[in-house]
Amino acid sequence: MTRRFVVIGQQATASPDFSLLDLPGTSGRLDVLLRCVRAALLVSHGLRRDTIVYLVLQGGPDAPRVLRLDGNDIRFVRPDERSLALLVQKALGRELPPAERNAFVTIRPGLARATGDLEAVLADLGPHAVTAYVLEEDGRDVRALALADRDVVVFVGDNHGFDPATRARIELLGATAVGIGPISLHADDAITVVCNELDRRRATREATA
Ligand SMILES: C[S@@+](CC[C@H](N)C(=O)[O-])C[C@H]1O[C@@H](n2cnc3c(N)ncnc32)[C@H](O)[C@@H]1O
Repeated sequence: MTRRFVVIGQQATASPDFSLLDLPGTSGRLDVLLRCVRAALLVSHGLRRDTIVYLVLQGGPDAPRVLRLDGNDIRFVRPDERSLALLVQKALGRELPPAERNAFVTIRPGLARATGDLEAVLADLGPHAVTAYVLEEDGRDVRALALADRDVVVFVGDNHGFDPATRARIELLGATAVGIGPISLHADDAITVVCNELDRRRATREATA
């Protein structure tokens, strides 16, 4: 089962010209998305090989762009925010061969970039979009939901949540709105909770198989 997390950065910069010394102040809060990468992809002493993270970057002059980080192939990812910021900065600054809009171009194993918005992600997902969830504070309680026992895609908002157009597009996919508790958490913490729920269910399934 592959887990895909799609984080929508409404103002997160798609350009490399941000300062590593003042990430929150110069990058349209790209730091929020970097913490999401850590939460989705990294565990203690390792990577989640079954997880792919998409960062939808809607801020700055090069927007929109999407970065895709695939836990199965990516190497040398460190958990600290500065290292993640450097990884993203290099990925955004890299000259790539011309490609069609929404097409991902590999930068290095496990790391790819597309020019495009949410549509680039949806094109890349293909049939995976059918088992879609969207994290919303007023969604159905995750603990009352039978989460799919197969590939899932989970949409996550940034510090501003979702803009109306993105929310409408995700709704069109038939995504189930999922709540993970009565309090609005930071996006990365929300991802950690979802990963934990999925981990627990998988462990239960495997124990009873
Ligand atoms: C900091 S919250 C967004 C805050 C607030 N919704 C807003 O509009 O400013 C970031 C994202 O984490 C997810 N999230 C946070 N708390 C959640 C909860 N209790 N249930 C489900 N999703 C949550 C949602 O995807 C949300 O858009």
